Order: sequence, then structure tokens, then C-alpha cells
Amino acid sequence: MTLDNLMSTPTGNLSIDSSTDNILLSLIIPTYNESKNITILVEKLTTLLEKITPQEYELIIVDDDSPDFTWKVALELTEKYPPLKVIRRIGEKGLSTAVIRGWQVAKGEILGVIDADLQHPPETLLNLWAEINKGADLAVASRNVEGGGVSDWSILRRFLSRGAQTLGLIILPEVIGRVSDPMSGYFLVRRECLIGCNLSPLGYKILIEVLGRGKIRWLSEVGYVFQERQEGESKVTKKQYVDYIHHLIRLRFSLWPISRFLRFAIVGFSGVFIDMIFLFLLSDPSTLALPLTRSKIIASELAIINNFLWNDAWTFRDISKKQPSKRQKIKRFIKFNIVCLAGLIINVLLLNFFFNMLSLNRYLANFIAIAFVTLWNFWLNLKLSWRSTEI
Ligand code: GDD
Ligand code: MN
Repeated sequence: MTLDNLMSTPTGNLSIDSSTDNILLSLIIPTYNESKNITILVEKLTTLLEKITPQEYELIIVDDDSPDFTWKVALELTEKYPPLKVIRRIGEKGLSTAVIRGWQVAKGEILGVIDADLQHPPETLLNLWAEINKGADLAVASRNVEGGGVSDWSILRRFLSRGAQTLGLIILPEVIGRVSDPMSGYFLVRRECLIGCNLSPLGYKILIEVLGRGKIRWLSEVGYVFQERQEGESKVTKKQYVDYIHHLIRLRFSLWPISRFLRFAIVGFSGVFIDMIFLFLLSDPSTLALPLTRSKIIASELAIINNFLWNDAWTFRDISKKQPSKRQKIKRFIKFNIVCLAGLIINVLLLNFFFNMLSLNRYLANFIAIAFVTLWNFWLNLKLSWRSTEI
């Protein structure tokens, strides 16, 4: 048993790079207390893969320092099975990050994942591989298509699995709705679809992260029957269900096209606050009682400065951090000001119209005018201020 077969664990963010070796398939086997299962699995997989991709595959066991020394059993297997590699993670835990860590050291054009406990029948790999060879970007083993199913799951487990899927369809329909078994932990995916994607999964559901952040065009499913576990026990606890919901919500916000708009609106709201406070301090009869328009212009300029600073640091951060110089920032501020001043003119006209023509309360009139102008400002700033500061 040579420790040098123990691969070092990658650290840092969970992004996948392009491959340089001529390995076709890298299959990750995440393990936690699977010492009684992996020998049989590795034997079955190598027999199978020697047929479909002789000498061009690798198996990578990613073990989270199992108390039953799964990683040690795995290391002993590397003597007999050269395509087998082992990562022993210490201090990092979790099924989905284990899979990604494995993909980060993998060399294959096609990346895959299979459970270590033989509940995912190894022979299904043949059908998954066939789909990839037809051109699929992602081939998923599904329990919910023809030829699929589960062994004798309890009603509760069936209910929880279907419930989780339904919740996913409500929160993230465009992702969860793409497959019949989004909970599947058994699939193959083209590496090129994941290059440059910063995967940040939570808990068990690696597939929804791949579907949500990967560039998956052609998706295929093959049926399989989820087997009864023979040795050891499932590590699924309540925490996995909480992680799943957290994962869905986080993916929802990061995929939502309007998440940038949401941030812009939140910043705009802080600007409304600034605008209102200074409009009161400057124009209210009980304070300085300055003329309404002059007060409005000063209050708005202060709000514009507030909004620019927040938008540059948060809403458009991904764009502004590529243009960090002071000159670029000043250029963005000038553009932002011009766009917002145009918006301010519209705002003042609307304010006067609602206040003087429709006799609305001055603050309600101001609020409606600002709402109109927020849409105008977002769209124009996205097109001008943060898009084309190319110097
Ligand atoms: N490295 C690592 N770290 N592996 C883990 C961890 C962990 O924290 N937790 C579980 N695993 C490994 C197990 O050793 C096993 O190989 C695999 O992940 C699945 O764990 P189980 O605990 O057996 O999950 P399950 O059988 O209830 O559900 C599996 O199948 C479902 C249907 O495909 C999981 O893959 C689910 O994600 C999947 O939905
Ligand atoms: Mn299992």
C-alpha cells in the first residue's frame, strides 16, 4: 500500500479547469464509512470500464476521513487497480463538495459520479456512456423514467423524495423541471460544460448545481432501479433536507435574471431614504423651508452619490472590479450622474405634475415619481455606465 497513491486534496474555489490528459472518463466515488462496499464496487466498475474505455478511465475515491478507514481500504485497492486514485479529505466534508474536489483533480473529458454503496447499479454506466457517445452533454440515471424505480422504499422516504422534488419545481422550475429525477446522484457530464463555472453546492444534490450553473444543452436520462443498501447505512439526515432548501434558495437568487435588479432596487431604496431626509431638512416649512425644486436637486444629488457608491461596490461589482482604476471609476460616476440627472429631470417633472396637477401629497408624489425613474435608471446604467467603461 503506497501512500503516494493518496492524491492531495485541491483547495480554494470549486471551479473545474480544462483537461490536458487523454483520459476519457473520470468517475468519482464519494465515500463515508463505505469500507465494506468499495472493494466490490471497484471490482465491478473496472470489469465494466475495461470493456467500454480500456485504459482510458480513472476511478477517484474521495473519502472524508471515514472513521472506518475507507480511505485505507481504497489505498490497498490501488495496488491491484492502477486506474484507481484516492483522496482523503481532512477538515472538509460533504457529498457534493467531495464530488467536485474529485472532478478538480480528474483528467477525463467526461466526468461522472456514482455512490459507493452499490445502490447505483454499475451496469447502468453502459447506458449512460452510450448517451454521452450519442452527443449528450449530461446523461442522468433516473428512477422516474421507463426502466427506473426504487427497491422497497418506505412510504415516508418516497414522500420525502417526491416532496423535495415538488419544492424544487416551485422554487427553481427552470432547473428542477429539466429532469425527471433531480435528486439523482448518478450521472455523467461533459467537462467542457462545467469549465469556468464556480460550483457551490450544499449537501447532497450535486446534480442541481450542475444543471443550474453548467452549460448543459443536450440532456439525456436512462432508467435504473435504486437498489437496497447491503452494508453500512445511509448518511441522509435532516441536515441534508435543510441543506437542500438552502441550496435551492441560493441557486434561485444567483440565477434569477433580476437579482442584479433586486440589488439595484435595494440601493435605490436607500437613495430614496437619503432623498426624502434631505428634501425634508431643506424644504419642509418646519426646517430650512428652501424652494421645493432647489431642495429636490440637492437632495437628489446626494442620493445619486450614495447610490453610485453602493451600485459600484455591490450591484455591478462583477463588472466594476474588472475596471478598478480611479479614472475608470470617475468615468463610471460621471456616466451614472448623467443618466441619473436625466432621470432627475423626469423625476422633478413627474413630482410637479403629481403634486401640482393631481394634488397628490408631496411625499407620495415623490415616491411614485422615483419608482418610474428607477426602472429608467437601471436600464440605462446597465447599458451605459457599467457596460462600456472600457479604458
Ligand atoms: N466524501 C463523502 N462525504 N461522501 C459521502 C458523504 C460525505 O459527507 N455523505 C455521503 N457520502 C457518500 C456515501 O458514502 C455514498 O457513497 C454516497 O455518498 C451516498 O450516500 P448515502 O448516504 O448512501 O445516500 P442515499 O443512498 O441515501 O442517497 C443517494 O442516492 C440518491 C439517489 O441517487 C445519494 O446519492 C443521494 O444524493 C441521491 O439522491
Ligand atoms: Mn446509499
